[in-house]
Amino acid sequence: MTGQKGFTIWFTGLSGAGKSTITAALVKELKDRLHLKVEVLDGDVVRTHLTKGLTFSREDRDTNILRIGWVCELLTRNDVIAVAAVISPYRETRSKVREMVGAGKFVEVYVAAPLEVCEARDVKGLYKKARAGEIPQFTGVSDPYEPPENPEVVCNTHQESVQESTAKIIARLREMKLLD
Ligand code: ADX
Repeated sequence: MTGQKGFTIWFTGLSGAGKSTITAALVKELKDRLHLKVEVLDGDVVRTHLTKGLTFSREDRDTNILRIGWVCELLTRNDVIAVAAVISPYRETRSKVREMVGAGKFVEVYVAAPLEVCEARDVKGLYKKARAGEIPQFTGVSDPYEPPENPEVVCNTHQESVQESTAKIIARLREMKLLD
């Protein structure tokens, strides 16, 4: 397809909220059905390469987010859709990335499952370890999470299906004229 616009979809939310799950469904839709160029930057994956060795201190989380944001800006500038799925707990750091990428091209998606729900899911068994004191500074348990105040999309994954969340995001992208 010619004339593809670049933009960044930024998923933020607690571990286990559903960021990676919605990302997978959304990317399938954008790639397979709409034939668009998409790159994914998932926190768990990026932390094994680009941001390897960083801890979960505020400073290191910020470095992680700003590096990922930097790559998102590069991709966006080159007409690729960048999808980041990272806890990104600090509002100020997320707004720095919004500025880097550019207003109108940054779509913040708040994956808003309550802590109790994420903890009950405990897909990776990390909440249990965090409660046992085996993982320090665990977001939601012993470290802060600042929810977005004005996200472009909110996905209540405890109340809606992955398909519903994905459809909401696609609809918003069309409203923002980022998709035809
Ligand atoms: S962020 O805070 O820097 O945005 P990121 O999304 O890259 O975090 O990584 C989060 C993932 O790292 C979690 O899904 C979890 O698997 C793992 N993890 C390990 N330690 C922690 C911790 N202390 N807090 C949050 N997540 C952690």
